[in-house]
Amino acid sequence: MTEDLRAAALEAITRSHALADPDYPLVHLAPPIGRLNDPNGLLVDSGTYHAFYQFSPFHPHRKLVYWGHASSRDLLHWTHHDPAIIPDSFYDRSGAYSGGAVVLEGDELHAAPAEAPYQFFYTGNLKDPVTDERTASQCLVTSPDLERFDKWPDNPLLPDHPAGYTAHFRDPQVWRDPDSPGSFRMLLGVQREDLTGAALLYRSSDLLSWQLEGELTFPDAGGAFDRFGYMWECPGLVRLTDELTGQVRDVLIWCPQGIEPAAEGYENIFPCVYTVGRLVGTELRECDGTFAEVDRGFEFYAPQAFARRPGEPGPATLVGWAGNASEDDQPSIDTGGWVHALTVPRVLTLRGGRLLQQPAVALPEDAPALSVVGQQLETTTAIRELEGHRSWRLRLEADPAAARWGLRIGDETCYVTVELVSDGDSTRLVVDRSHSRYTQHGDIRTVTLPTGTQPRLEVLHDRSLTEVFVGDGEIAFTLRSFVAPGASGAGLIADDRLVPKGGSAVVYD
Ligand code: FRU
Repeated sequence: MTEDLRAAALEAITRSHALADPDYPLVHLAPPIGRLNDPNGLLVDSGTYHAFYQFSPFHPHRKLVYWGHASSRDLLHWTHHDPAIIPDSFYDRSGAYSGGAVVLEGDELHAAPAEAPYQFFYTGNLKDPVTDERTASQCLVTSPDLERFDKWPDNPLLPDHPAGYTAHFRDPQVWRDPDSPGSFRMLLGVQREDLTGAALLYRSSDLLSWQLEGELTFPDAGGAFDRFGYMWECPGLVRLTDELTGQVRDVLIWCPQGIEPAAEGYENIFPCVYTVGRLVGTELRECDGTFAEVDRGFEFYAPQAFARRPGEPGPATLVGWAGNASEDDQPSIDTGGWVHALTVPRVLTLRGGRLLQQPAVALPEDAPALSVVGQQLETTTAIRELEGHRSWRLRLEADPAAARWGLRIGDETCYVTVELVSDGDSTRLVVDRSHSRYTQHGDIRTVTLPTGTQPRLEVLHDRSLTEVFVGDGEIAFTLRSFVAPGASGAGLIADDRLVPKGGSAVVYD
């Protein structure tokens, strides 16, 4: 008898005690049990956000990835739903890997497979039990209502990788071509046969039959991305208008494994970078070959933006995995049987070719000023408004002359510090978690701020996960912050004389 994988996952979820774990986040989406990795199929539907994600309900005992599913109306409170994709077909029985969603409307809907508005594309992963040989295929799931999810009967749509590439062929992003009505495009991460990374573009008018257009190329990048790592995971394009120039740009965000640039950063096992150009055919034109990390924290990978219905207004909103490969050694696996979470959704802006990120849920304009504002501080001072709270969001501004200031989260012995340190010439963000319960894969990290970044810190702390945004979001920094389990609040570090210029906070618990 074949195993009922849906029933097995649901049964595992009923045994979960994750929610009772003091480290389980409140406003970040974490798995109900087991392991989470990449966000998948993010979409907005009539004001409700749906997040799917790589979900391993039996972790660490058995490795098998499903698509988990949760939804939220306010991007702060998430409701879990039953897993959406179960890896129980001949083409995905070693895992339903990452992919994306398209939401159809009007005529598109009538022409669509199964006439269903929600179309999900994902990678079916297959490993031969004897030879361990991998086959990767691209597959479709349709949904009429985001409650029922039907695998397309003629899956897989793309049964195997094309000639010239290895079986590392995965993570489809599908979107409607704004330059060619009635046409859809698919971007996939691949490994060439010479073991270098690349991305492939496919095109379709019915979402079922896909024609290979070719590799994504960078004609103006001086060869910068020709031999750039050994595999590209989770490539995605986001179209944004540059605030400074008014130009429409296509931002490519992807995870090139195995790059070692001679620049500050790139400390994580796998990086996530972006570059900016304009997609014409298969060419990312006007991309000069410069690239930068999307997030500078210890834990960040495989982000994707929410898909929308055509014409649905709103900003581009990105969610990342607040984790990275081989980081499953976190305390929560023992205390709560779960590991990893997604970042909060972040609004993307492009300013002069630089990507800025801010939490999509803004701090209320009318939030009262913190009591430390305007006070002269000389030592670490408890922030009264956060006392007793373990999930909160804070915005603080200091005088640009302040030499060293920031936050201490946790208690006196088990804590994380987030500081801005200036030496007159430049300012650095210094994050130190060496005194916390999780120091593997990085304990102290320094990030030099781009010139002109305002001395402003936004910190979103949620029990064991912290996201830091500096200035207008020039720097985003995600970290797991396993401070003392019961510790609440935060202290404002004022090593020198400090008079906070402005600040406000909200609490979530
Ligand atoms: C990125 C990734 C993807 C793959 C998925 C498998 O973290 O390796 O390339 O589809 O995770 O869980």
